[in-house]
Amino acid sequence: MNKALKFVVFLGTTREGRLGERAAKFILEQIKSRGHQVEFFDPEVLKLPMLVKPLHFYRDRSTAPAQLLEMNQKIVDADAIVVVSAEYNHSIPPALSNLMDHFPGSSFSSKPSGIMCYSPGQYGGVRAAMQLRAFLGEMGCISVSNIFAIPKIHERLDAEGKPSSDSGTNDNTVKNAVTFLDQVQWWAEAARHQRELSANDNTTKF
Ligand SMILES: Cc1cc2nc3c(=O)[nH]c(=O)nc-3n(C[C@H](O)[C@H](O)[C@H](O)COP(=O)(O)O)c2cc1C
Repeated sequence: MNKALKFVVFLGTTREGRLGERAAKFILEQIKSRGHQVEFFDPEVLKLPMLVKPLHFYRDRSTAPAQLLEMNQKIVDADAIVVVSAEYNHSIPPALSNLMDHFPGSSFSSKPSGIMCYSPGQYGGVRAAMQLRAFLGEMGCISVSNIFAIPKIHERLDAEGKPSSDSGTNDNTVKNAVTFLDQVQWWAEAARHQRELSANDNTTKF
């Protein structure tokens, strides 16, 4: 790895007492420990409305809310996207799609994404991950093959996102995060290299 990468991490839930916060804290720490920069998009903090007008529906973007413009710039500047998602009815939590739907696919395109999912049950939210794979592909940030799933998250991570000392599975949680981030990082570096090569080439814009 040569240069630090820029990540945007999206958290997908706003529920009172949500477990997603510990998943997000854990992965943010893992990304930072690699020396990368990371922006954290938490729908509970950002409080975007249920979609009224996405950024790309403003004819004159300069008239869009400053919050949307600032968030969009961070997405455009990112080398990689990570989504931290629960599974709601075997699908994508609405807070996550609502948050991401505010921005055009062009802001996400030409960079990879990584899917991290979790649940208090045994499957770790992987059914939502399958749906996210299609969703993120449509947004332009194709997901890497590795999916970082944390089943029984309440036992594996504490409220601060630290691996629990009594879970007996600590090594797997950290080890799986390493495999996941190694892959996201590899693709993010490759995509950044390709974006730099094609920056002045108008024939390859999509
Ligand atoms: C509306 C709703 C639907 C859910 N559907 C599923 C499901 O399909 N599969 C599953 O394993 N857990 C399901 N759960 C349980 C969640 O995995 C669990 O509540 C988890 O903690 C949600 O993430 P959060 O705490 O960040 O909100 C559901 C929870 C909610 C609130």
